[in-house]
Amino acid sequence: MNTDLSLDNRPDLATERLSLRRPADCDVDAIVGVVGNWDVARRLARVPHPYGPADARFFLDHVVPAEWVWAVTLRGSDTLLGAIGLTPEENTDAAELGYWLSPAHWGGGITTEAARAVVVFGFERLGLPVITSGYFEDNPPSGRVLRKLGFVETGHVMRPCLAAGGEVPSIRMELVHPARG
Ligand SMILES: CC(C)(COP(=O)(O)OP(=O)(O)OC[C@H]1O[C@@H](n2cnc3c(N)ncnc32)[C@H](O)[C@@H]1OP(=O)(O)O)[C@@H](O)C(=O)NCCC(=O)NCCS
Repeated sequence: MNTDLSLDNRPDLATERLSLRRPADCDVDAIVGVVGNWDVARRLARVPHPYGPADARFFLDHVVPAEWVWAVTLRGSDTLLGAIGLTPEENTDAAELGYWLSPAHWGGGITTEAARAVVVFGFERLGLPVITSGYFEDNPPSGRVLRKLGFVETGHVMRPCLAAGGEVPSIRMELVHPARG
């Protein structure tokens, strides 16, 4: 584990097209604009619907300080298009990869590109032995993102979806650190 890293001083990550930075107060409207969209919210586990500025503030004040999460922006523009991050798992030293992106940008490979950078960060900088993820069965694009990164299926489970107000069939995935796989 690299000890000179901290959540308060998280590095920006850069890819060919993207710049990933800490989500900030200036992002409230953009977050509400994306996560407030039912087509996004219904595919996520832990966001309410409807979703307003107070919910975005909760994300900024309570989730961002506690998790390795970044705003996804295009290089040269500071506008938040989405978010991506690693949530520590309870009772293991793994972390779970999660992400969402503005529907206006779906299908352009942005999430796959951002996720590749976050996975490398998780393995090389955080020393994670394994990164988990999961997606609802009716969300094949997310499964496609994970498979392109090398994630493999580990099982089918029911997972809560706060926006939908119940449990939804979902697929668990994981990617083992290349040196341990
Ligand atoms: C899932 C999500 C993040 C994908 O973002 P994205 O930037 O569009 O993803 P990418 O462009 O990198 O890759 C999407 C892949 O899904 C594929 N895809 C799109 N629609 C598909 C469908 N109906 N069935 C199967 N694959 C599909 C794309 O073709 C692409 O794969 P390819 O590169 O092999 O062609 C985005 O759709 C999103 O924000 N959804 C709502 C929130 C969400 O689902 N978050 C994840 C929760 S697990």
